[in-house]
Amino acid sequence: MNVQLSPDERADLVVKEMTLAEKISLLHGTGMKDLSPMSPLAAQSNGGAGYVVGIPRLGIPGIQMSDAAYGVRHSGDNGRYSTALPDDLAGAASWDLDAAYEYGALIGRELRDQGYNMSLGGGVNLAREPRDGRTFEYMGEDPLLAGKMVAQLINGTQAQHVLGDIKHYALNDQESGRNAVNVNIDKRSMRETDLLAFEIGLRESNAAAVMCSYNRANGAYACENKYLLRDVLKKAWNFNGFVLSDWGGTHSAAEASAAGLDHEEPGELFYGAELEKAVNSGRVPLAELDDHVHRILRSMFATGVIDDPTRRSVVDVVRGFEVAQKIAEQSIVLLKNDRAQLPLDASQLRTIAVIGAHSDVGMLSGGGSAQVDPPGGNAIAPPGAGRTTWQAHVWFPTSPLKAIRARAPGAKVQYDPGADLTSAAALAKTADVAIVFAHQWESEGMDLETLSLPEHQDDGGGCQHPLWRRQPSAKLPITFPKSDADLPHPTLVKPPKRSTMEPSSPEPWKAIAKGLPAFQVTYDEGLKVGYKWYDAERKEVLFPFGYGLSYTSYSYSNLKLTSGKTVRVSFRLTNTGPRAGAEIAQVYAALPASAGEPPKRLVGWSKVKLDPGESKSVTIEIDPWYLSVFDINRDAWQLQSGEYKFLVGGSSRSLPLEESINLK
Ligand code: BGC
Repeated sequence: MNVQLSPDERADLVVKEMTLAEKISLLHGTGMKDLSPMSPLAAQSNGGAGYVVGIPRLGIPGIQMSDAAYGVRHSGDNGRYSTALPDDLAGAASWDLDAAYEYGALIGRELRDQGYNMSLGGGVNLAREPRDGRTFEYMGEDPLLAGKMVAQLINGTQAQHVLGDIKHYALNDQESGRNAVNVNIDKRSMRETDLLAFEIGLRESNAAAVMCSYNRANGAYACENKYLLRDVLKKAWNFNGFVLSDWGGTHSAAEASAAGLDHEEPGELFYGAELEKAVNSGRVPLAELDDHVHRILRSMFATGVIDDPTRRSVVDVVRGFEVAQKIAEQSIVLLKNDRAQLPLDASQLRTIAVIGAHSDVGMLSGGGSAQVDPPGGNAIAPPGAGRTTWQAHVWFPTSPLKAIRARAPGAKVQYDPGADLTSAAALAKTADVAIVFAHQWESEGMDLETLSLPEHQDDGGGCQHPLWRRQPSAKLPITFPKSDADLPHPTLVKPPKRSTMEPSSPEPWKAIAKGLPAFQVTYDEGLKVGYKWYDAERKEVLFPFGYGLSYTSYSYSNLKLTSGKTVRVSFRLTNTGPRAGAEIAQVYAALPASAGEPPKRLVGWSKVKLDPGESKSVTIEIDPWYLSVFDINRDAWQLQSGEYKFLVGGSSRSLPLEESINLK
């Protein structure tokens, strides 16, 4: 407990004192209904997804884990309250690293207040397959944006002395058949796309943990995948935290241990008696076991959960609302503004039609283990039936209709549910303006059939715009293609029946633990994820990556490149419109042709605040790493020599400035 010593030294001292049984107890959870048998010790759980017993005689507290994607989960069942933030994808749309930090800090504070010392947030799987039901839990399609944002989220959480986690490592890009699917992808592509988001995330944070995913990757389960865990994560990236399995994602003891899995969740199907036996028989070397234990203790010391244990407190509801609103305001993407109709001036409106998506009573939320419980229960459930169950469509009881009425007290504001297009259109016709809310529910454990909106909402051609926003400044972290047919895989590969579980089967976890028969998904688009695909295939898109309008306008000029240790990209940005605004200026690079890369990649950005008429000179330093390719022969990142073209502008498809430079 000597705080002068390093976390590694402190962890070593504890490991030396531990019995084998104590070591094993730190390497698994205490069980969860439907996923593993429950230990009687689970009674001490704080009500979250995971609980690991502590070692009181050595001053080591238990680990109380909770899901916390866009807020702390399970508040309903536990009789608590937590703030629902805009979802993670919305957070990424802010391109605002400070907002990401605040996002994570709020989650950290509310976890602590509720008695948790570990977050299971930090989802950063790339939107390689945008129909993935968890797209809302992740941070878009670009590894640099996603990696930098998740790092700040983790830093915010861990500053509250809560263990942070980045997940789901790796290539868990579709939910359909997630416990069985084998993802096939070449090494270079995986390192430069999905894995790069994790690599950047870990380099810029000190995440305590990485959660390995359910799927197989190139033949081996992610949680016993030597390449992913040992060679890349622990050796190449020097990750010194611990790897925990997704819930039911462990499939062996000795094999997983050798591959680099440190901890099993939620129970001890493999990392209890079986691991102990493997150690006693010498199949798992004691040094390997000690390394697992060391990593967990080291992270606990480094993050401060031992020196500063949780003290329960009342969640600061008001502060939560303030942070959530601030982040929402940084996250709203304005896609169209025909005839400059927006922003609306409430004093000029006599009649307003509000249409669709239960906007009279509620706002939809994302489901699955990300689900945050609404205060007061589900707004559209019958009274008394407001409990959130797995994959229920949960509407928070907050009324856009009421908010609009409050903002436009002089106007007659009428509501139509939008279910009957004729009646909705008739109401819209009578109004000065129609504000149409659209919805698309998503959840863990399912994928979308199509990117089109459900329930014929696209037939109406809707868009949503709160009245009060004066300065939308967010940009899309994901491409909106014209149709499913333009996706790298127009049809999502569904698991054959033998690779799914019968929902009715008793103890379904037994089949998962044993391993469901694999089916294949092949990411042959390789490096071409998101905008890189549409660029390379020369496809028109509906709205490009990085796109978003503002109520003002900007001009870009005077691009200058200088190279030294980094490349410095300088340019002038001017607000040419009538309002103050914040522009997200983006820098893309086209690598030398010899690199064999997609046409361009994001290499930096800056969010710049400008008053009307104001002009600023902006300099963005580009880390040479972001200009490199992964050389599989050298097993390392490599900067190619040759001509690099830098493109600067307000979206991936609006890049007015370009200039080339020779490197090396
Ligand atoms: C999800 C994880 C989650 C875990 C615990 C799993 O089903 O994939 O993201 O953290 O459950 O609830």
